Amino acid sequence: MRFKILTIFPEYFSSPLEVGLIKRAREKKIIDIEVYDLRDFTSDKHKVVDDEPYGGGEGMVFKPEPLYRALTHIKERDPDTYTVYLSPQGRLFNQKIAEELSKLKSLLFICGRYEGIDERIRKHFIEDEISIGDYVLFGGEVASLVILEAVARLIPGVVGKRDSVDRESFTSGLLKYPCYTRPAEFLGFKVPEVLLSGNHAEIENYRRRVSLEITLKRRPELLSQIPLSERDLEFLRE
Ligand code: ADE
Repeated sequence: MRFKILTIFPEYFSSPLEVGLIKRAREKKIIDIEVYDLRDFTSDKHKVVDDEPYGGGEGMVFKPEPLYRALTHIKERDPDTYTVYLSPQGRLFNQKIAEELSKLKSLLFICGRYEGIDERIRKHFIEDEISIGDYVLFGGEVASLVILEAVARLIPGVVGKRDSVDRESFTSGLLKYPCYTRPAEFLGFKVPEVLLSGNHAEIENYRRRVSLEITLKRRPELLSQIPLSERDLEFLRE
């Protein structure tokens, strides 16, 4: 899958995209990431990308021309590119959207700053608008990294064992059960006995129960969004 990022801060992306599994996926050519500097698409000496809002008000707005040039350039090179603008006004990101996006061939993130981008670009040249949460960041850079990471790890080959993707929070629609590793006793705190038993059916059952329990406690609204077995419901009623 091909990822592209359009930003006025390309340096933001150097280290985060050069470590760990993202680095390995790039080396193995499972994913490709290109970062574009919006200032390279300006036509004036000072590489101005923003201007005051019509009608007055606080802050600055990204001008349409550099964005249009950048989008045209990127889409000409890679016509299959799906364009996402990051903003607090977008649809709220979740695992389902990550799964949707992971099926694309090419995904471009447009990182806004300040008050946002000129509405004519947003309306006519961008396919999707996504928010990563109900809070306001300085810009879309961190948001694009969040989405890139959530999407990249769903692409086959990026995460070693598919199992570790399949079992976690939100794939099942529930919060993930807690994990333990050696030693079996640490400062007097013990690992739950069932996990040491080697009985896989019992372990599965225990993990499902703990997942249900913490989901009920922390995110009860998730329970109405997923199919629950008779056994799950029985446990929740206890
Ligand atoms: N830009 C600023 N805040 C944002 C948010 N919450 N999500 C996505 N992009 C943003």
